[in-house]
Amino acid sequence: MPKVLVVHGPNLNMLGQREIEVYGDVDLNEIDERIKKEADALSLEVESFQSNDEGELVSKIQEANEEFDALILNPAAFTHYSIAIRDAVAAVKVPVIEVHLTNIFAREEFRHKSVISAVSKGVISGFGPDSYILGLKALSSVL
Ligand code: DQA
Repeated sequence: MPKVLVVHGPNLNMLGQREIEVYGDVDLNEIDERIKKEADALSLEVESFQSNDEGELVSKIQEANEEFDALILNPAAFTHYSIAIRDAVAAVKVPVIEVHLTNIFAREEFRHKSVISAVSKGVISGFGPDSYILGLKALSSVL
């Protein structure tokens, strides 16, 4: 069974309490449960990881290369400026799908730019928790 790593970046542990009008009221545990359910339906094995720390995210992405077949990544605020995370994504040979809960292109201008997109297999942005589900579905067609 293909193994997929889901990586959530900074502040996503605050979902459900954080800017509910922007991000909705579903918390990260619930999102991870929905991801697990969909992964089961698609016959994918899934592991989720969240960190607020750039270095930990880089290390986890590097690990994906060894231990997983694909990666779903919500880099959160690091999307917009972390060259370290971009380089980690570029370094791994497994497909990486960049996902966002919100449509980053419909928000503040500083969110319109992603330094991750050009090294990702594809991008899903704007479907709330379903962005992760769509990411899994996209992966199941390329794995
Ligand atoms: C986000 C969008 C980012 O701009 C923001 O910093 C986040 C979450 C999203 O999922 O919509 O923390 O990646």
